[in-house]
Amino acid sequence: MGREKDANLLKVEKVVEPKPLCGDGARFDDYESLYAESLKSREKFWEKLASELHWFKRWERVWNGKFKGARWFEGGKTNVCYNCLDRNLKRGLRNKVAIIYANEREEERKLTYGELHELVGRLASGLKRLGVRKGDRVLIYMPNTPEAAAAMLACARIGAVHSVVFAGFSREALKVRIGDAEPKVVITATYTVRRGKKVDLLSTAREAVKDFPFVEKLVVWDRDGEEKLGPAEVEFYDLVAENREVAPAEEMDAEDPLFILYTSGTTGKPKGVLHTTGGYMVGVYATTGWDFNLKDDDVYWCTADVGWITGHSYIVYGPLLNGITTVMYEGAPNYPDPGIWWRLVERYRVNVFYTAPTAVRLFMRYGEDYPRRYDLSSLRVIGSVGEPINPEAWEWYYRVIGGEKCPVVDTWWQTETGMHVILTWPHTKAKPGYAGRPFFTVEVDVVDKEGNPLPPNRVGYLVIKTPWPAMFRTVWKNPERYDRYWEVVKGYYCPEDLATKDEEGFIAILGRADDVLNVAGHRIGTAEVESALLEHPAVAEAAVIGKPDEIKGERIKAFVVLKVGYEPSEKLAEEIRRTVREVLGPIAVPEELEFVEKLPKTRSGKIMRRLLRARELGQEVGDLSTLED
Ligand code: WTA
Repeated sequence: MGREKDANLLKVEKVVEPKPLCGDGARFDDYESLYAESLKSREKFWEKLASELHWFKRWERVWNGKFKGARWFEGGKTNVCYNCLDRNLKRGLRNKVAIIYANEREEERKLTYGELHELVGRLASGLKRLGVRKGDRVLIYMPNTPEAAAAMLACARIGAVHSVVFAGFSREALKVRIGDAEPKVVITATYTVRRGKKVDLLSTAREAVKDFPFVEKLVVWDRDGEEKLGPAEVEFYDLVAENREVAPAEEMDAEDPLFILYTSGTTGKPKGVLHTTGGYMVGVYATTGWDFNLKDDDVYWCTADVGWITGHSYIVYGPLLNGITTVMYEGAPNYPDPGIWWRLVERYRVNVFYTAPTAVRLFMRYGEDYPRRYDLSSLRVIGSVGEPINPEAWEWYYRVIGGEKCPVVDTWWQTETGMHVILTWPHTKAKPGYAGRPFFTVEVDVVDKEGNPLPPNRVGYLVIKTPWPAMFRTVWKNPERYDRYWEVVKGYYCPEDLATKDEEGFIAILGRADDVLNVAGHRIGTAEVESALLEHPAVAEAAVIGKPDEIKGERIKAFVVLKVGYEPSEKLAEEIRRTVREVLGPIAVPEELEFVEKLPKTRSGKIMRRLLRARELGQEVGDLSTLED
């Protein structure tokens, strides 16, 4: 546990009592009593929520009694896409706006539930015509647009397993994921827009699929209609146009796979986190509705990207399952100017706004002027996700964006958990610096390595002690890596976050316990960056650490040992960084790069990143007896 020194987040500056207004139409009165009750009737709690959705056949049992190896709603048949679209058409929402798309050029498009249903259904027919069958993988490498959401939903509709790769990743990162998921079809677009520039996706996708004969077709959304497509390529909207029939929603078993999403771990190879149908659907439906205290007419904006779990659960599936209007934004938060997001909040009268602390800190730097120019009075709830929100950022977000009337709903969760697990409810008190308390039915604690609960305010491992429906079911093609989550602290699910718990059960998250970085709310494995550095011919060895960063939470610093015959220089450093950009993508580029003669290692040859980090930050180093030199 190397990060106790970062426990400055622990300072509790104040407790913020909920405003009576926010309790209006709340889904529950008293958290403590409902939570206690939910622990006693876990299955009843979830069964009731599941019953609000459509099932072709009702489940036989809610939960199979296991934690590791948990299965939910077995025997039940449903379809997530059906519940996102068809069910809402049946509820009379055909002409309601499902997705508002906006970008940094302030171009907009709105799709009603009816239109989205038509698009998804025809795309699903098209995918079937390309030979995609239930259980086949489809990889989606798309900008944050309705087309990406439609592609995900079309897969869900026919039982294909989607795997979305963030469009900010580049060639090698994409290749590794394609190689692992073995998709029959890859869906991409010609480009995405960022800071007024077109970022080419098609060349990257073409390059990445080249060596994989199992990829039979590349579906390309040709945004400007200018591309000449090859024989194994088909245009996205041509595919939609050629297939007039809305494919019926496949009756899926509750435990049939829904998607694979790759996330970083401690080794260089990303983990394919697998989620299944029924439990995930019920979990994200419930948490979107409850945690943001949604109202039917809400316009909701989660600023994440579909390439991450937040985009899956809380841009696409959660909001659509709840039949509300979800905003998708393509572009940077501060381009063409730092007022763009607040302009859009004003324009679309956004009620629920959900973003990451890194964005809040970015806006803090630009000052209060920008948000003050716009009318943000439509906001009712503002959320936070991805990393701990420090009390200063919390205060600014609450005061400047929320106008001291909107609760800040902090939500702790992971790609693996699928849904929020710990949160600050909109109608309970908040403690800035603390993520909050568990969602109903889920038990969490802070323990030592042996699993013994620690006294209040001591730093230890966060663990989850009981199952929840949206939990991941395995790591694709790698069950040992799934097992590992239950082995760090025996018997519990260990997310590998360090945390503390106070006397009232509020959990503060202090950061990762493993070699995973959290840069601007994105999980990046040190090993992944190190192997990208090694792709440069001059690099003999590399080690990567995270350094505290005022805006991004952490920034990447690389230590590089050069091969004999290479001399350190600014130019070489720049070249090496460019290699990381090409191989992994801009988000993984080390901001600092230092050439060193050698790296500190243990006797067994493992790089001591902790030592590098301590030295870098001028901290004391703990026990070094396992060190070689
Ligand atoms: C961190 C993103 C503190 C944490 C949803 C976790 C947070 C990792 C919070 C998962 C939060 C996420 N407060 N830390 N509210 N939310 N984290 O899989 O370290 O991309 O383990 O999922 O982000 O990142 P992932």
